Amino acid sequence: MQDVSFQGMTFEPYLTREQIAEQVSRVAAEIVRDCATQNPLFICVLNGAFMFAADLFRAAAQLTNAEITFIRFKSYEGTSSTGKVREIMGLTDDITNREVIIVEDIVDTGVTAFQLRQMLQANRPKSVRMATLLYKPGSLKIGTPPEYVGFEIPSKFIIGYGLDLDGEARNLSDIYVLKS
Ligand code: IMP
Ligand code: MG
Repeated sequence: MQDVSFQGMTFEPYLTREQIAEQVSRVAAEIVRDCATQNPLFICVLNGAFMFAADLFRAAAQLTNAEITFIRFKSYEGTSSTGKVREIMGLTDDITNREVIIVEDIVDTGVTAFQLRQMLQANRPKSVRMATLLYKPGSLKIGTPPEYVGFEIPSKFIIGYGLDLDGEARNLSDIYVLKS
C-alpha cells in the first residue's frame, strides 16, 4: 500500500480493510452476545461512522429485530477537535425503554460521546452502550470509555473508512495515519 496526500499532508497506511473487517466481526459478535433484547436501536453518529455502521449492522444480523437510525454531530475542524460539539441533526426516534447502541467512528477527547450519552439518557432508554471502531485512550478528557472498541490507537490523526480531513478521504477502504 502507498502513502496518500490530502491538503499537502502525507498519510501512511495504518490499518488494512482485512484488519478492519476482522475487528468489525468481533465487535458485532460481542454486541450480539450482550444484547438483552432482540430489537436494539443502533444510532449511527454521522458523518464519520456511516461506513463502520453499515458493516457493523450487517454483521449483527443475528439480532433479528434490530433497527438503525442516524444523528449528526460535528466537533472537528482540520486535524483537531474544537472542544465544542454542534448538533446538526437530532434524534427523531422514541428510545424509551429501548436498548441503544451508539455507533461512532472514533472516540478522541470523549466530548461527543459524553454529550450524546447525556442527551440519550434524558429520554429514558433501557440501556446505552457505545461501539466505536477506533479509540484514542490517551486523548480521553471526559466520560467513560466506550464499551466496544475495534482498535485502541495512539493519539494521532487518522483518515479513511469514513473518517475525513475536512470532508475528504472518507472513501478510502483502508485507514491511514498522518506522517509525523
Ligand atoms: P471527540 O468528541 O473529541 O471524542 O471526537 C469525536 C469526533 O471527532 C469523532 O467522531 C470524529 O468524527 C472526529 N475525530 C476524532 N479524531 C479523529 C481523527 O483522527 N480523524 C478524523 N476524525 C476524527
Ligand atoms: Mg464521529
